[in-house]
Amino acid sequence: MAEKVRLASLEEIPVGAGAEIVAAGRVFAVYNVDGQIHILDGVCPHAGGPLGKGTLEGCVVTCPWHGWQLDVTNGHHCLNANIQQPSFESVVEDGDVFVLV
Ligand code: FES
Repeated sequence: MAEKVRLASLEEIPVGAGAEIVAAGRVFAVYNVDGQIHILDGVCPHAGGPLGKGTLEGCVVTCPWHGWQLDVTNGHHCLNANIQQPSFESVVEDGDVFVLV
């Protein structure tokens, strides 16, 4: 059964923003797209860049290191269908954001 781990308050991740959060021994990239929270593994699949610190436009994040772009709603690389970043289920309860791991 999945463990529910608190990552942040919802206020810390406003609409259109992302954040890098370390919890449960992992790095998570947490995004708020139109009020929906999406969570990816925060380590870029290219060379380990910080996806949570990337620029979010719509549902696409651009890695700050070399510009790879991923759809934060499903982890798909925008140009290469063979690249799939792991994603995690999110839960928002009482103003807090949790990840299921
Ligand atoms: S480390 Fe993310 S694009 Fe290179």
